[in-house]
Amino acid sequence: MKRSLGVCYYPEHWPRPMWEQDAADMVATGISWVRIGEFAWSRIEPVPGQYDFDWLDDAIAVLSDAGLKVILGTPTCTPPVWMTERFPDMFARDAQGHVRGFGSRRHYCFSHSGYREAAAEICRILGDRYGRDPRIHAWQIDNEYGCHDTILSWSDTAHEAFQTWLANRYGTIDALNTAWGNVFWSMEYSSFEQIGLPNLMVTQPNPSHELAFRRFSSDQVVRWHEAQVAALRPRTDAPLVHNYMGRVLDFDHFEVGSSIDIASWDSYPIGFLSDRLEGTPEHKARYLRQGDPDMQAFHHDLYRAVGNDNRWWVMEQQPGPVNWAPYNPAPLPGMVRLWSWEAFAHGAEVVSYFRWRQAPFAQEQMHAGLRRPDNAPAPGQHEAETVACELAEMPDTDIAQAPVALVFDYPSEWAWSTLPQGADFSYFRLVLDTYRALRRQGLSVDILPSDTTSLAGYALVLIPGMASVPAPLMAAIKGQTVLLGPRTNAVTDELCIPQPMGPAIPGFDVTATRVESLPPGIRRPVAPGGAVLRWVETLEGSANVSLADATGAPMLMSDGQTHYLGAWPDDALWSEIVTRLAGEAGIEVTPLPEGLRLRDTQHHRFAFNYGPEPVVFNGETIPAAGVVWWPRQTTERA
Ligand code: GAL
Repeated sequence: MKRSLGVCYYPEHWPRPMWEQDAADMVATGISWVRIGEFAWSRIEPVPGQYDFDWLDDAIAVLSDAGLKVILGTPTCTPPVWMTERFPDMFARDAQGHVRGFGSRRHYCFSHSGYREAAAEICRILGDRYGRDPRIHAWQIDNEYGCHDTILSWSDTAHEAFQTWLANRYGTIDALNTAWGNVFWSMEYSSFEQIGLPNLMVTQPNPSHELAFRRFSSDQVVRWHEAQVAALRPRTDAPLVHNYMGRVLDFDHFEVGSSIDIASWDSYPIGFLSDRLEGTPEHKARYLRQGDPDMQAFHHDLYRAVGNDNRWWVMEQQPGPVNWAPYNPAPLPGMVRLWSWEAFAHGAEVVSYFRWRQAPFAQEQMHAGLRRPDNAPAPGQHEAETVACELAEMPDTDIAQAPVALVFDYPSEWAWSTLPQGADFSYFRLVLDTYRALRRQGLSVDILPSDTTSLAGYALVLIPGMASVPAPLMAAIKGQTVLLGPRTNAVTDELCIPQPMGPAIPGFDVTATRVESLPPGIRRPVAPGGAVLRWVETLEGSANVSLADATGAPMLMSDGQTHYLGAWPDDALWSEIVTRLAGEAGIEVTPLPEGLRLRDTQHHRFAFNYGPEPVVFNGETIPAAGVVWWPRQTTERA
């Protein structure tokens, strides 16, 4: 498969005389895709019902005539002010009940049916005009669902829709009362109309109530999204794409992804490290200008799974300093190239940079582009050019099935953020830690959704923290080398303790009879090295004790190929566990120097040095921010 580069461009931000030269410069940089339009509603429909397509027609013509393939965005994440006058109740409300009003973006509540219909209507209008236009090669639907914490809304419209959703899910109020255990604290309802949203209460709401609200909120996104898909599908044969955002977990990406063709995501490695990742000050200092060595790869693997037929892109790639993190350092020279190649090695079809030129006005004026505001090339442009040249020379990066599978499940994030039990228990962090442990041993990983029914071809499968394991997945682990836990299959779908208690793995006699959370800094050493932290379960049963803590309490129990981990390991313990399991599964591990990561494609092994200093690996010195690849099977340099 041919891989290519793209860029995000806003013709409406720039004087018309600049467009031709911009397009020519993009092509000269080696760019072949250009995304436009996703925030341009106020220019497409300046007043209700009056459309101005002249400028958009013109922009599409200029870009396409230069040889660029256009991705057209639906502009629904920035409804113009007149829309909010038409629907004054379309805004979301935060958990304190405050209106999240006009003046930035994503100012809508997913439950507002009037705005949902207006969004579908603009899609029909754009689809009628451009759906069969051969210059439009893909459509992006909306922009980053969930960015700026916009999935959960405590508005009146959401409240009403929630009551209807509950009636559909539970059928009768008695069924809901029983499912949630509402006899506790006299919380029993006699009708669905009595049920409020789980905010503004004296203390913690019933976790079942909260989880139901999380499920409902995700379903509202799916419904919203599908209204746009339904509007566009009959009007175009071009692929439909959405651009997801890193560590946005409030809706089920697999469900949104099931109705579109390509998953894409927006990769801002340095912003993520500073803004949305846990880590020691040393880790954050070391990777300050590179980003975390596993965060991007994790999302690449995740979106490969979300995309139909594994089709995925990076729609927005950080090109220089961003503006939105607390601190915004510039990438280490070479990192824009490294991030681009890492995405290709994980199977991305397109890597598209955000944005062509830094805007001199408004909220993102401090955000770098490939070009500076004065139109001189910024450092990112030179690295994009390098990638484009290398791509022309590069043999294919077709993906191979990885030896290891890791299951990722959005409802588990909602379950454990509702009922964390320890202040720093995070499902995402647990899964990312598991992923890191695999990658520190040089392993390539496929991420799978929880509705997976076959694990064929995987030598090793890991299912950490999955709140409740669906029966088909539980059946599929039979005959596999598998690690479950901690906190896997620990609750029912309604977030209650099941009978029998978890993990209730058929044919495997282990029960987690008690759980403890540990504050930061508390570690319980485990022979032969390392320790558990944060989370410990008391495991009972007749399975073998594979690892125990210093008091002899079992931490890892095993029976044949099935293993259950009743604790959150530190790095050293994770290395021990991964090495053991890989050995058992017949997979070769390659313990890596700090900051180095590998990724195997069908024909190549790639190495990425996220560290700020050179490393020697495989007989070769790889510079800071360096990327190398070798043909697989041999160690000879390509
Ligand atoms: C993304 C968003 C873009 C832009 C970018 C800045 O979250 O999709 O529109 O805001 O961040 O980094």
